[in-house]
Amino acid sequence: MNYRQLMIEELQDLYQAETEQASQLPQLAAQANDEALRTALQEHASETEAQALRIRQILEMAGAAPGGAGEVTPGVKGLVAEAHMKGEQVRDPFLKDLALIAAAQKMEHYELACYGTARATARTAGMDEAARLLQVSLDEEEAADKRLTDIALPIHKQAAQSMASMA
Ligand SMILES: [Fe+2]
Ligand SMILES: [Fe+2]
Repeated sequence: MNYRQLMIEELQDLYQAETEQASQLPQLAAQANDEALRTALQEHASETEAQALRIRQILEMAGAAPGGAGEVTPGVKGLVAEAHMKGEQVRDPFLKDLALIAAAQKMEHYELACYGTARATARTAGMDEAARLLQVSLDEEEAADKRLTDIALPIHKQAAQSMASMA
């Protein structure tokens, strides 16, 4: 494997990751009780579709197919499985939302790592337009992560209060 192949494979993995999340995020959104959380997850689902298209565009520029091995990587599968498991296990509405947020933020951080690496590789390879497009998606992931942190804050408080009143 050479440097270019490594870059292509990373992008193909990321394409699979985005496609998988685009289909899973609406399901996670449907489980959310908090309206702001539901909206944020739905909006990020549409953003995620655009991110997949951006990667497709970069791969086309590099003369490669988006599909690659056609497999969602084990890391992404695990994160998605974890998100569903937590969403189903937790009954309390506040705690369920917090569990969904935690799972969604794990995905965002995974993506931030992937985009950071892909951007560095694109820059090194002299693919300036690819690096620019990757930066756009990276900024979106960062904003999505921050939005979830902000949404979580009042839910943490409500969860703590409802736990205290039950004690
Ligand atoms: Fe994404
Ligand atoms: Fe994301």
